[in-house]
Amino acid sequence: MLRTEEKVIDEARQGEALEGRKVSNSNGRKVFIESYGCQMNFSDSEIVASILEKDGYETTKLLHEADIVFVNTCSIREKAEQTVRKRLTVYNKHKRKNPQMIIGVLGCMAERLKSKFLEEEKIVDLVVGPDAYRDLPNLVGEVDGGRKAVNVILSKEETYGDIAPVRLGGNGVTAFVSITRGCDNMCTFCVVPFTRGRERSRDPESIIQEVRELSLAGYREVTLLGQNVDSYLWYGGGLKKEFANLSDEEKEKSTNFAQLMDRVAQVDRKIRIRFSTSHPKDMTDDVLHVMARHDNICDYIHLPFQSGNSRILEMMNRGYTREWYMNRIDAIRRILPTCSISADIISGFCSETEEEHQDTLSLMEYVKYHFSYMFKYSERPNTMAQRKYPDDIPEETKQRRLAEIIELQQKHSHEQLKKDLGKTYEVLVEGVSKKSDHELYGRNTHNSVIVFPRENYKVGDYVMVKVETCTSATLKGKAVK
Ligand code: 5AD
Ligand code: SF4
Repeated sequence: MLRTEEKVIDEARQGEALEGRKVSNSNGRKVFIESYGCQMNFSDSEIVASILEKDGYETTKLLHEADIVFVNTCSIREKAEQTVRKRLTVYNKHKRKNPQMIIGVLGCMAERLKSKFLEEEKIVDLVVGPDAYRDLPNLVGEVDGGRKAVNVILSKEETYGDIAPVRLGGNGVTAFVSITRGCDNMCTFCVVPFTRGRERSRDPESIIQEVRELSLAGYREVTLLGQNVDSYLWYGGGLKKEFANLSDEEKEKSTNFAQLMDRVAQVDRKIRIRFSTSHPKDMTDDVLHVMARHDNICDYIHLPFQSGNSRILEMMNRGYTREWYMNRIDAIRRILPTCSISADIISGFCSETEEEHQDTLSLMEYVKYHFSYMFKYSERPNTMAQRKYPDDIPEETKQRRLAEIIELQQKHSHEQLKKDLGKTYEVLVEGVSKKSDHELYGRNTHNSVIVFPRENYKVGDYVMVKVETCTSATLKGKAVK
């Protein structure tokens, strides 16, 4: 993966525990919640904290004082699961000193491995899938009663729409708001449809309400989250449906992603809106026009392409061809000429030839992404790809192709950032630079990280910064009045 400063900042969030917080109705027990994986997991942990707080649990950032440890897990690649397993060993060391301590696995690994964790591994007390968090207080009660507890039931309706997440994970400036749960796309390499279940959209009123509350609490940026935000469609609740299949009454009260963004953008003009992840097969020109209409919707799209070759895309069941993807890029360039674009790319998918790998590189040349998240294909148990296709690209080949992708991306990132030299951007300050206390960092509308001298500015300020230098990953500049 590209080690840009931005990535380093993101990676720092991997395995981060929620802040500690006291509650007035305390039941005297402290819970340590650590999250791994995607933004959705970090967002879910704040929902978990909210559910537990209602029952009088306090959160703590200190593992040694925890009565309960929850790890919110990721299954997307094998490496992510290995990281969590290592953490479970660490928790169990603490448990030896404090045998009353409860250890629970939440999220995608819980859903994938289910009671296997309890039966085979004997290193956890509680296993809870992503749709069962309301049941947590009850399940902890089961464990208190001497039983192991598991709830991995996936839901057709659950969106946690009515639960106000406790914002303990962030910087008080940027927040995630989930708009959909689950995924119906069934990309053949991906475990998410199995671990997070079927796709459901959240009631737009509860989304707007959450953004209003964030605005009142002083937040300055909201990222709307979903595995595929473009397929957001509210029609009254329940599993995803296509617009064409809605009844007249459902159509009447429906809200699609473009309409949702249009509303969210109007809640507070001082709040920036981002969203992730877009899907090339579903991203409409309407969405791009809404982005063009609102200054506070960031000029940035994360549009994974995975492979630049149509045969591989078909095998991946991505629902688009190379030409379709390029057409979507052309639409972005037409409607949002300055928009920055990022991608997810997989190297060495089953049967990928050298020429097909070259198609990935040439698509990168066509788009010149600002940055990318780049991965080697990792076969995941029970996915369609695992069942249908041999994982036949040798590890060294996957690695070499990935290295070529990374090298090209670094070149493009640098080229894109160089275009910003001399330009002035509005930067939302997110924190103090890891390298120096005298510097702050934030992002511009293009999601590029900009570092600049601290002076008297503080986290949460919007500052106009003139870009003076850049690396392949970060811009550096000075505040201008
Ligand atoms: N192997 C490698 N990368 C994967 N991704 C999802 N599943 C796999 C897998 N089995 C990547 C995709 C996706 C991102 C979130 O993770 O690029 O867009
Ligand atoms: Fe996985 Fe594809 Fe859904 Fe993304 S869109 S979560 S890659 S199945």
